[in-house]
Amino acid sequence: MPEADLKAITSEIGKLSREIGRFMLEARAQEKEIEIKAFNNLVSWVDRESEKRFVEGLSGILPGAGFIGEEGDYGKSESDWQWVIDPLDGTSNYLYGIPCWCSSIGLVFNGEPVLGVIYDAVHDECFSAWQGGGAFLNDRPIRCSGQNLLKQSFLATGFPYDDFGRQNEYLELFRFLLHNSRGIRRLGSAAIDMAYVACGRFDAFYEYGLNAWDVAAGTIIIREAGGTVSNFLGEPEVVFSEELIASAPGIHGELLGHLKQFFYPEG
Ligand code: IPD
Ligand code: CA
Ligand code: CA
Repeated sequence: MPEADLKAITSEIGKLSREIGRFMLEARAQEKEIEIKAFNNLVSWVDRESEKRFVEGLSGILPGAGFIGEEGDYGKSESDWQWVIDPLDGTSNYLYGIPCWCSSIGLVFNGEPVLGVIYDAVHDECFSAWQGGGAFLNDRPIRCSGQNLLKQSFLATGFPYDDFGRQNEYLELFRFLLHNSRGIRRLGSAAIDMAYVACGRFDAFYEYGLNAWDVAAGTIIIREAGGTVSNFLGEPEVVFSEELIASAPGIHGELLGHLKQFFYPEG
């Protein structure tokens, strides 16, 4: 698809995300019903209603594209194009009144993210990018940090909600990084973590157990901001890999080396 079309679609998604973001802000006051989707995995009617609104809106923007959404099953699509939707990333924050949540909409072509929009309605921050066009925060260009030393890096991570099989590796790495960085934050929204890497607020973010809808938009936004995104083996196919390191280009190699050392000591 020509770059101009990707740019126009990105702009449409920005408008849609702002509209649905307003709904989510208003719905916060009435939000009382919490369901438990799985262990430590909360969901509310706002997640479901927002996804419905996104699917309706996106169907009009690119008719024929398939959907992968956190809250719905849309079946297998024949199209090479797929929307990857997390209507509300940071649901626990949303439900507990912590102002750190967003929507995250990615478009992938044959599994590769080609555009993405992450919208934080509380702070009215819209992070966006399309392939070849650069990355933006509310229409101003953004770049990853120029950091090239892990020791001087400000990091973000996410604690696995339920996949505790790799807990020991995770905690050992965490201990190492506590001693070898400028600090580690856990915000509770993987999409916001990635958006903050893209604009240089964090130097790097890592987590495992993530889903496609958590990372599709952030991946293209970070890449267009000059950053590097891979799995824990350094491979660039991250959307369905459930492992993610997203960082300023200057510290990716060093951080990856440590992740490999803890998670894949044999390899
Ligand atoms: C979660 C958040 C969290 C991350 C989890 C995700 P949700 O998404 O991004 O930061 O640690 O792995 O599942 O459930 O709030 O959309
Ligand atoms: Ca999510
Ligand atoms: Ca979600």
